[in-house]
Amino acid sequence: SDPGLVERARAARARLGDRVFVLGHHYQRDEVIQFADVTGDSFKLARDAAARPEAEYIVFCGVHFMAESADILTSDAQQVILPDLAAGCSMADMASAEQVAEAWDVLTDAGVADVTVPVTYMNSSADIKAFTGRHGGTVCTSSNARRALEWAFGEAGGPGADGKVLFLPDQHLGRNTAIRELGFSPEDCVVYNPHRPHGGLSAEELRRARMILWRGHCSVHGRFSLESVREVRERVPGVNVLVHPECRHEVVAAADHVGSTEYIIKTLEAAPAGSRWAVGTELNLVRRLADRFAPEGKEIVFLDRTVCFCSTMNRIDLPHLVWSLESLADGKVVNRIQVDPETEHFARVALDRMLALP
Ligand code: 13P
Ligand code: SF4
Repeated sequence: SDPGLVERARAARARLGDRVFVLGHHYQRDEVIQFADVTGDSFKLARDAAARPEAEYIVFCGVHFMAESADILTSDAQQVILPDLAAGCSMADMASAEQVAEAWDVLTDAGVADVTVPVTYMNSSADIKAFTGRHGGTVCTSSNARRALEWAFGEAGGPGADGKVLFLPDQHLGRNTAIRELGFSPEDCVVYNPHRPHGGLSAEELRRARMILWRGHCSVHGRFSLESVREVRERVPGVNVLVHPECRHEVVAAADHVGSTEYIIKTLEAAPAGSRWAVGTELNLVRRLADRFAPEGKEIVFLDRTVCFCSTMNRIDLPHLVWSLESLADGKVVNRIQVDPETEHFARVALDRMLALP
């Protein structure tokens, strides 16, 4: 990265001292992640955001829904900054508050469902999290989706084993968790398409379903295919395939290990020298892990060379980070992410429920 910008970022950080706390998601660029006080998956960052109450500014190097969650979980005195406001998430954009409210009416009106508990992936807007909190549901991340679903289906004092779950907005995480971790069959899962009347589902389909999966997906992880897995197994003999649960079910079913970004890192840390790995997640992280573990004799390749970076994660680059840090150091707050108080209240109910999962 540009040495002049590195120097400026260091200088601005030094001027700010403990007044600023920088969080970095694992998908961030190397040039950015070097300035993070903590790095993590979505769950760890949600927890860590609240860990430094004395910091006036939380600079969130990640995407918009993560910065919103940090704002919800921190005190009103703390200000959360997203260095580039265009760093959204295409998956989170696939569920709007209006669409979800309409779907809820369909699901609760149709007499179909002793419906239903919403379980909402962290990768969603604050509005959808608030909807979830209002309707007795919980947020989850890729590292606790199993526990969230078990809770929703009645364990640990959760709402009820006979009901259904409306899983928002990532159909793949919902399906993968239900089938792999809760032993559901593919027929227990139906996909609700917000662009079709009644979600495109018949009354019978709705009646039989246990998992109603919102029709959303990650545009990066959705591009790994069964063919990617076959091709890498041929190309790299003895390879272990390690993928994120946002991948399609057929990819996850063909993989050897599945988990969140933090799980992926831990798995590779524990891997023996001489082992070979194909990793199906965002490219910045895979490249960093390949470089980090090469000296230990672990060979790490990208699951599919035709898949590219998450373009919105990549919006946060060193120039944007420098601009936000220098502005803060000069006393000017830029790109603040602030959730309105009512949304914040109910979104926090759903986030707190996740944080309290056993
Ligand atoms: P995790 O880091 O929680 O696994 O999430 C991955 C992701 O896609 C975030 O956008
Ligand atoms: Fe959203 Fe996928 Fe990018 Fe994560 S990797 S921010 S889910 S588009």
